[in-house]
Amino acid sequence: MFGWKKQKQSAEMKALPEHIAIIMDGNGRYAKQRNRPRVNGHYEGMQNVKRITRHASDVGIKYLTLYAFSTENWSRPKSEVSYLMKLPGDFLGAFLPELIEKNVRVITIGDDDALPEHTIKAVSEAVEKTKNNTGLNLVFALNYGGRNELVRGIKKIAGEVSKGKLDVEDISQGTIDRYLYTAGMPEPEMMIRTSGEYRLSNFLLWQSSYSELFFTDTFWPEFTTDELDQMISQYQKRSRRFGGLDEEEV
Ligand code: FPP
Repeated sequence: MFGWKKQKQSAEMKALPEHIAIIMDGNGRYAKQRNRPRVNGHYEGMQNVKRITRHASDVGIKYLTLYAFSTENWSRPKSEVSYLMKLPGDFLGAFLPELIEKNVRVITIGDDDALPEHTIKAVSEAVEKTKNNTGLNLVFALNYGGRNELVRGIKKIAGEVSKGKLDVEDISQGTIDRYLYTAGMPEPEMMIRTSGEYRLSNFLLWQSSYSELFFTDTFWPEFTTDELDQMISQYQKRSRRFGGLDEEEV
């Protein structure tokens, strides 16, 4: 009996997370440490998005969601915002052929109405060209905010109720899931934040209810695939109880 349990546990330990979400923080401090302008940190951050994406795809992760621009980031200096809005185009301009070759599908979440035309164009082209790919889903959170996402979803639900298409009594957690940007995606099993900050900063608030949290002091541009692998191994050893008990405690 004990042997069987052990065997079952080790099989569970080997399961890879399906969905990893990352708050890519520390670009500015990375640049400052090197006496470079902040935007250089974002440039190096973008280079790291390539390395981490390649790796996630190679190891068989199904969803990688990256917090590229939050609804709060508009308050940064105009020149930094412009640079950040240029990055998706630069990234996809250089990297899209490799993403296509790797069978990666590009998706975005967030309020794209407020994005500049050139950003929307670059991103929607990538979304369109990769829409039938079946490998890694590379999800860019662009002008994304968890509270904003919930407000938007609640408004849509209220609209359906007022049109008589939805009964209030039928609103469940599943209903809310379906009205979020992430409808149809699995919840992130792992949520990572780099740079020594310990906050969610309005990222995937609803979806991260049971995510395993990982923090590292490493600045995003220096976050390596080895460090990601170490976190994945730690994740595989953690006991996820979702408010219940471990099997041996029952
Ligand atoms: C937070 O670091 C990072 C951001 C607000 C932007 C993240 C964007 C990238 C990593 C590049 C995105 C790439 C693509 C392909 C869209 P910070 O600037 O707040 O760093 P700090 O806390 O050290 O100042």
